[in-house]
Amino acid sequence: MTHYKELGLVNSKELFQKAVKGGYAIPAFNFNNLEQLQAIIGACVETKSPVLLQVSSGARKYANQTLLKYLAKGAVDYAKELGYAIPIVLHLDHGDTLELCKSCVESGFSSVMIDGSHHPYDKNVEVTCQVVEYAHKHDVSVEGELGVLAGIEDEVSSAVTHYTKPEEVEDFVKKTGVDSLAISIGTSHGANKFKPEQCTRTAEGILVPPPLRFDILEEVEKRIPGFPIVLHGASSVPPELVRIINTNGGKLKDAVGIPEEQLRRAAASAVCKINIDSDGRLAMTAAIRKAFMDNPAEFDPRKYLGPARDQLKELYKHKIVSVLGSANRA
Ligand code: G3H
Ligand code: 13P
Ligand code: ZN
Repeated sequence: MTHYKELGLVNSKELFQKAVKGGYAIPAFNFNNLEQLQAIIGACVETKSPVLLQVSSGARKYANQTLLKYLAKGAVDYAKELGYAIPIVLHLDHGDTLELCKSCVESGFSSVMIDGSHHPYDKNVEVTCQVVEYAHKHDVSVEGELGVLAGIEDEVSSAVTHYTKPEEVEDFVKKTGVDSLAISIGTSHGANKFKPEQCTRTAEGILVPPPLRFDILEEVEKRIPGFPIVLHGASSVPPELVRIINTNGGKLKDAVGIPEEQLRRAAASAVCKINIDSDGRLAMTAAIRKAFMDNPAEFDPRKYLGPARDQLKELYKHKIVSVLGSANRA
């Protein structure tokens, strides 16, 4: 067993309390390789933002659990070396079983999500309670989820959104003892969050999605005042990145995300953690495709991964400063 404190990590409890009070959200950026980690830490140190390094079970398989543990420890030291010791949480994204959550706690994670949202309510409560009981013994934070986002996350997918029922949240939080709650108010995973027929189109042909259900968020906040809320599926899918990908050989069709001004509004409420993965994937892919097209004779991976890392860092800084409001909160 490696406890997260041995790695220099922190859990999310205090960070979330401060974020709810301060009206900002902490970034939860997914990573599974070195360049993504360098970009995340570089951006968060430069902006003095706390951060959750988020790892899905697929990412854990991809990167290897032992390497991940030392990468997280390395991230803590790297931040200090860059000049500012930001608080870093290592978080399991969309854990689906007690066994997986336990295994992550034992390998140094300081926070886990148990996503029982696809189960019937009582089963969701049961599995979430088991994870909370184990995780809290080790001072590890737990995120639960109520309501189902449309889209794909690891092996679980849903064609349609099932909005969170506000009348369930108080009972769920009380019974399970979770530290934060992910809710479904119209965000969704991936780069194609909405079907074109759900959107309107601007004169330039850009798809505009239906607005988030702030009425549900407000109702949830009324029932559990001050409780930390999490938004998944919060990438904005910047049209400029999609354009760069498609003009450099890519084929992304009808990609559409959540407008940034809606995320800013959410971040000012009890939403204290915002998950962003797809925008990072788009930024890296855009830079790599462009580097390949501009320099077809280049075959040193540093020559295309380097620009991808730089683009990623800029994207994260933009999110922190202009969307989440977490700059200078570390
Ligand atoms: O919510 C899902 C995250 O974007 C992680 O995706 O399971 O492909 O690593 P992944
Ligand atoms: P996006 O696909 O919108 O980036 O969402 C990521 C996420 O919710 C990870 O849990
Ligand atoms: Zn998610």
